[in-house]
Amino acid sequence: MTYDEEDMKRIQSSSSSSYCSTLWNNNIIIIMFCFLFMTLQQPKVIQSFTIHSTTAYLSKQGVELSLPSSTSLFVTQIDNNKNIETSIQNENENNSNDLKYWNIGPTFYNPNPTSPSSKLKSALSTNTHPIEDENELGKGVFLNIDWRKAWYTYPTTTSTKDETSTSAAGCDDDITIDDNTGYTEYTIDNIDGVVPNDLVGVLYRNGPGKFGVDGERVKHVLDADGLVLQITFPNNKNVEKDKEREFIFRSRFVQTKGLIEETNAKRFIYRGTFGTGPWSTLLSTPPKNGINADSWLDQQSIPCKVLSNAFNTNIKNTANTQIISFGGKLLALFEAGLPYELNPKTLETIGEFDMGGVLTKDKLPVKLGMEDAIPEQFMPSIIGGAAHTAHPNVCPDSGNLVGWHWSQIVVDKSLEVTFTEWSKEDFSPIAKSTFKVPNCELAPHDMALTKNCILLKVNALTMNQLPFLMGLKGPAASLEMDGQANVFVHVFPRPTAKEQFEPFVAEVPPCFSIHFSHAYEDEESGNIVSFFSGWPPSDSKDFLGAWGGFAPNFAVIPPTYYWKMVIDPRERKCVHLDVAPGSVNACAEHPLVHPNFTTTKAKYAYAVVSNLVGDASAPCGYAKLLVEDGDERKRKIGEINEDIDAYFFGTRFFAGEPLIVPKHEGDINNEEAAYLLGMIFDAVKDRAGVAIFDLERNLNEGPIATMWLKSSVPHGLHGCFAADQNGSSSVFC
Ligand SMILES: [Fe+2]
Repeated sequence: MTYDEEDMKRIQSSSSSSYCSTLWNNNIIIIMFCFLFMTLQQPKVIQSFTIHSTTAYLSKQGVELSLPSSTSLFVTQIDNNKNIETSIQNENENNSNDLKYWNIGPTFYNPNPTSPSSKLKSALSTNTHPIEDENELGKGVFLNIDWRKAWYTYPTTTSTKDETSTSAAGCDDDITIDDNTGYTEYTIDNIDGVVPNDLVGVLYRNGPGKFGVDGERVKHVLDADGLVLQITFPNNKNVEKDKEREFIFRSRFVQTKGLIEETNAKRFIYRGTFGTGPWSTLLSTPPKNGINADSWLDQQSIPCKVLSNAFNTNIKNTANTQIISFGGKLLALFEAGLPYELNPKTLETIGEFDMGGVLTKDKLPVKLGMEDAIPEQFMPSIIGGAAHTAHPNVCPDSGNLVGWHWSQIVVDKSLEVTFTEWSKEDFSPIAKSTFKVPNCELAPHDMALTKNCILLKVNALTMNQLPFLMGLKGPAASLEMDGQANVFVHVFPRPTAKEQFEPFVAEVPPCFSIHFSHAYEDEESGNIVSFFSGWPPSDSKDFLGAWGGFAPNFAVIPPTYYWKMVIDPRERKCVHLDVAPGSVNACAEHPLVHPNFTTTKAKYAYAVVSNLVGDASAPCGYAKLLVEDGDERKRKIGEINEDIDAYFFGTRFFAGEPLIVPKHEGDINNEEAAYLLGMIFDAVKDRAGVAIFDLERNLNEGPIATMWLKSSVPHGLHGCFAADQNGSSSVFC
């Protein structure tokens, strides 16, 4: 790829203004390290982002804060003088059954812990749900003790020593799982409502599920090993007469190389992307508080960190991010490594998958960028690999899987990306093309796909590798961001596009993107329109390091909004960036549209929502957003957007990523002829379930069915819905 001179000037001028000289110096050191420790070089990948302050941006946009001065949103007056430091300190004490967690979880605009209302206190003391209706919900209220429980490892009969007294014990017919494999299998027979007969196929989901090893908890939930689960929805036509459909649940941990080695060693061996790592016993012995207790890694002294982790760049591929079904394969994905292939029926791990011969195993996703100058015999064999994104897309027009893999180029801090399209028939690669993205130190988490283009949005992030190499910080915590810098959208031709074009880059106002729901080439304007979840500008340089803890801490996570971005390809510039229509004040993540509309103009987008008041809090409901025709009136932070069709399960529930599943043999061109499926967690009964909404009704009418599981399932990340258990094409999020 050759960007034109104008593109390069824009990228380079922004880069030099946003990267401080210290970083340059560090990077010189880093390059030296890379030559000295070439085999140690590691990927620099992010999965999520943290911003500290959005207030200045909102004020520029004419949005005001309307929060009460000394109270949190809609809850009672603070009844003590605890500050957030005390709260964090308490979080690190190992007694999760203590009353100290009986407080309202902090939010971005209300970071101080507050006591619950008398109604919630009563619900806590009796372990019940408070009586509440939809009018009381959607305001960002959740309980700390509940949110922690959403991040527990499955309880098992043999690991009770790791469990606190508030562990997920579940209902009477709880089923435990195998400690080492995560395996369980049963029929789901506790169903509220009726599962519709035209919901046919297989639900798969992946996410962090094993939060440590031998009584030692990971430092950050996203470092946990992947737990995949499967629920089958058989076709009623194949069910014997006089019998009912049987919904089977299965789960397993992805048996990655790292999980197996650490299980056998009974300790952390690998470093995690988010700060987990080994503990050298030369200076001290780590306490084993339990995998459902706060991580001891926060107690590591600096000398211990250096001794434990310096120059250990063995990053674990936890295969915990996404799961896709395509071309006869079921794959568990992790964006800094190769996918793991699973048996689509049994979920048993088969091993690393080379994506139809496109990827090379046992190599790091790093290239020196000066291969021509170094004789092959002197090139370390470990260098020259690639990692595959966790967010490929299925094109609704061609049925192709469109994905990309990346290698970091050491010498010039660029990224080599290769886009590939695979056949759904046999996973064979149909076409691929390779480009170089200048000044890109971190692989983007997601991409946008249109009929002819692929968009990669490169956020303003740099990697300070020195603390990582010295063992002081994990790679994610070593990220530094410039939340006020413009960012760049790189537009590439799809490998199968009939008209190939020279890639170009468009400069975009500050805004971090996380997940794209859809994108399209607008026939009227000729513009490229895309929608994504992300964060507004921030003054903070801190990044991810403060995000972790036992569970995500919303005091430091800014509200995630849903954005609309328009690129004019003729002028090569961004002509619009703002919160998407119909979504003002919705703190929304995991946005998606009907899978047949991912590359066209969709009337509706769906998302899991935390609240409708513009604050950051735990996710607990679903929303339907009118992304083309919805109103764009700005609202004060704290003012609920009552125009959004949303459903909230209750203060003591949480909700995960939704999936949109077209009705079996329904009209694929009708966006509403589909179901929304979402994993939910009932913190009172310690049970997880799958809520099913009929999109031909309003969301706020509630789910038409909820399937309650017999085994607890942690909060999780991404999933898909496939037509069968044979590895057929996923219905993607
Ligand atoms: Fe993701």
